[in-house]
Amino acid sequence: MEQTLIILKPDAVMRGIVGEIITRFERAGFKIVATKMLKPGYEHYFEHYEVIGTLKTRKGEEIFESTLASMQDGPVIAMVLEGIEAVEAVRKMVGDTQPKTALPGTIRGDYAHVTYGQASQSGKGVANIVHASADTDEATKEIKHWFKPDEIHVYSVVHEQFTQPRKK
Ligand code: CDP
Ligand code: MG
Repeated sequence: MEQTLIILKPDAVMRGIVGEIITRFERAGFKIVATKMLKPGYEHYFEHYEVIGTLKTRKGEEIFESTLASMQDGPVIAMVLEGIEAVEAVRKMVGDTQPKTALPGTIRGDYAHVTYGQASQSGKGVANIVHASADTDEATKEIKHWFKPDEIHVYSVVHEQFTQPRKK
């Protein structure tokens, strides 16, 4: 079983759509094994977006700083989801980084339409609702950064009857 980190960003929290988004993950059969609401500062996001996510290295100073500022606009809900190949499956549900190009049916495609151009003109990170770990290495590092081991829970859900080996 694989674990991945999602963050319901300040725009999702302030728009009051976190319930709908969490429901999508629950319906797909992912198990919530950790969650909390928090409002981290610059250092925490620097670790998340640059040390782990290499955003400044990949996209440059301006996008990096506007993203960090937008993430600090309000509290976020962080969550660890568990499931089969959860990292890739959750990324598929989340969709493309830019809501304008994210396909209908994805979270970013269904809940937003905004563009990189509009975001950069307004000095903001693109408001794209949710963060999800990009690969398993990023997931491992991000989960460690956001949650202590005793905040991650072990329990059973009914979905597991469909994924466990058949009893002989
Ligand atoms: O979030 P995702 O993994 O899809 O994309 P990323 O390249 O790792 O970028 C991280 C975050 O930076 C995005 O989700 C946006 O919030 C922000 N970003 C942005 O505002 N404008 C861009 N041109 C690229 C990224
Ligand atoms: Mg990323």
